[in-house]
Formats: sequence, C-alpha cells, structure tokens
Amino acid sequence: MGVEIKVEGLTKRFGSQVIWNDVTLTLPAGEISVMLGPSGTGKSVFLKTLVGLLKPDAGSIMIQGRDLTHLREHDLYEIRKLFGVLFQDGALFGSMNLYDNVAFPLREHTRKSESDIRSVVMEKMDLVGLSGAESKLPGEISGGMRKRAGLARALVLDPEILLIDEPDSGLDPVRTSYINQLFIDLNAQIDATFLIVTHDINSTRTVPDNIGLLYHKHLAMFGPREMLLSSEEPVVRQFLNAQTIGPIGMSEEKDADELAAEAKSGQELPPLPPIPLQLGTSDGTTRRGERPPGEWCRKNGVTPPPGSFQSHNAGVPGVRADDAPAAPTAPVAGTSAEETAADSVGEPV
Ligand SMILES: Nc1ncnc2c1ncn2[C@@H]1O[C@H](COP(=O)(O)OP(=O)(O)OP(=O)(O)O)[C@@H](O)[C@H]1O
Ligand SMILES: [Mg+2]
Repeated sequence: MGVEIKVEGLTKRFGSQVIWNDVTLTLPAGEISVMLGPSGTGKSVFLKTLVGLLKPDAGSIMIQGRDLTHLREHDLYEIRKLFGVLFQDGALFGSMNLYDNVAFPLREHTRKSESDIRSVVMEKMDLVGLSGAESKLPGEISGGMRKRAGLARALVLDPEILLIDEPDSGLDPVRTSYINQLFIDLNAQIDATFLIVTHDINSTRTVPDNIGLLYHKHLAMFGPREMLLSSEEPVVRQFLNAQTIGPIGMSEEKDADELAAEAKSGQELPPLPPIPLQLGTSDGTTRRGERPPGEWCRKNGVTPPPGSFQSHNAGVPGVRADDAPAAPTAPVAGTSAEETAADSVGEPV
C-alpha cells in the first residue's frame, strides 16, 4: 500500500566531486513527490541511490525499518522488488522486443507461467498506449514510445515505490498530460509512493503532493506543494516560475557581479502566480494524498498569491477554464504512424 522512504544525511561523491551533501527528506507513503533541479545537480544519481544501484558516502535510506545503504547484496535484491524504476534513458535491452523487455522483471523475479506473464504484459502495454507494438525493437520506435515501454516495465511487478526519471522528456504536450493523468490514477489505484524527476513546471505545479529542489550540491527545499509554490525563497521562486532573474545562472550560480548588475538594473521577479488546483483522478475518486485546497497555507499562516485555488486555474497556470484543454480521461493514446524510428538504446544500468 505504498511505503515511506526516510532519507537522512545522504551524501554522494564521485571521487572528489560532491554531487549532493546531507540530503534529508521523507517521501510520505502513497503520496506523489516531484524532484526538481538544474541539469547536473544529481537528480538521476539520487534515484539510483534510492534503489541501491549507487552507494552513498554517508547517510541512511530507511524503508520498512531497514537501512538500504547497509544491506547485503541478497537483501538488496529482495527489497528492489518493491521498486519500479523508469530510468532517464529508458534503459531497455536493445536486442529484445518490447514484449520481452516488459516481461523481463516478471521472468526474473516471479514464477508466473508464460500465459500469466502474457496477460500482465498486455495489460501494462495497453495502459501506456503501446498495444500492437509488442514485437518492435527499441531501436525501431520513437523516444516517447521508449519512455512509455520503460514505464510499462516499471509497473509489471505492482511496485510499492515508483521512481520515474523525466517521464515527459521527449513526449509531446498532449501525451505529457496523459502520462500525468496516468500517474494520478495509478497512484489512487495502487497507492504506490511516487518520486518523479521532471523539468516540466506545469506538471510540477499541478501533479504532486510534495516538491523538492536540488540545487548547488544540497536539497534547497522539500515539502508540500503549496509550501514551495508560495515560497519567496529566491532559488525556489526562480526555479518554480522559470525565471532568469535570481541566483541560478546559465551554467551555475551567478557570481556577485552578475547579481549586483541585476539589482542595479532594478530587475525584479514578477509576483508569484496563483497556485493552481491539484489535478484530480479521472474518475473523481480521492487522491491518496489529497488535502483541501489552501489547507497548508491556512495552517501555516501563509497568504497564497491572489487568485489561487480557483477552478479556472486548474492545470494550466494563467489559462482560463474556457480556454483550457479538456482533462484527459483515457489511458495514454495508442501508437501512431507518425511515431518514427529513432536511434537505439543502450543496455540497462
Ligand atoms: N557513474 C558516474 N560516475 C561519475 N560521475 C557521475 C556518474 N553518474 C553521474 N555522474 C555525475 O554526477 C552529476 C549529476 O548527474 P545526474 O545525471 O544525476 O544529473 P541530473 O540532475 O539528473 O541532470 P539532468 O537534469 O541533465 O538529467 C553529473 O556531474 C554527472 O557527470
Ligand atoms: Mg537526470
């Protein structure tokens, strides 16, 4: 029913390069959390560390009373069955067709018969809109299709924890909406704990229960969605509102001269946009982590930006309901002729 992941004091280095230092956060059981951060801040490394593929240099990762960082290989193998992971590059086996790729965890970790495997594989392929593409090789399909095949593979073991690295990179906006809706519906159905890494600010504003931001080798902030969307903290504010004004520069932190020039020119961040309503499930059932809109702000004495939590700004910030596209209600759209073959993928990590 979804498990809590408690991370404390986690530090990761490669040689002398510190990736992040002293990361402490709790992913609440059954809730959806999003992790943001400029490129290269170690989001993918964080996911790989959570699943035990990379060893941290310090700190703990507690899951069901056990510290993942100190497990022996055999116990780690067992606890990995709790996880479904979609890697950033899809990590499909290039020489196996999609059916075999998706079936792989079932053949590896269960004793299911081939006919049982078939029904699970076909169900998950259908869920992500890949029915009919079972016999294709990863090198014969588009990047977006590979993402969805990776997602189907991440789902076959009915995971308690889903780690999803940039599900929307390479997806068109409509499929991104479908994928977001799929995550929300799945979360309500299977109650898994989700951690999604994304660069999509619109998804970040509407999909998760919690948001985190990795920046400059540390966790700048992690907490409920409303906390980050109403935050005046310069890094959080700049990142969540996709602004060039603020401490984050093109390649790294801005230096003192750049910040001074910015201040001198009188450039200021625009006011915070309204906090949109959270996206609901497509059948109207309650989300696992659902709270009344504005509850966090009320409890914490924070005045949300004007216009927050109104039905007209659900989903797309700044777009009125009359202009907004209808929320998708069906699973991800099926494969289509315009999805062309793309370069091949490497072997899994
Ligand atoms: N196996 C590895 N060995 C050495 N360095 C690594 C390894 N994996 C990642 N790194 C380094 O760790 C840093 C963080 O990489 P990571 O892929 O986690 O970034 P990211 O935040 O996911 O970026 P993006 O948004 O571009 O995907 C980078 O500097 C990368 O070069
Ligand atoms: Mg990454």
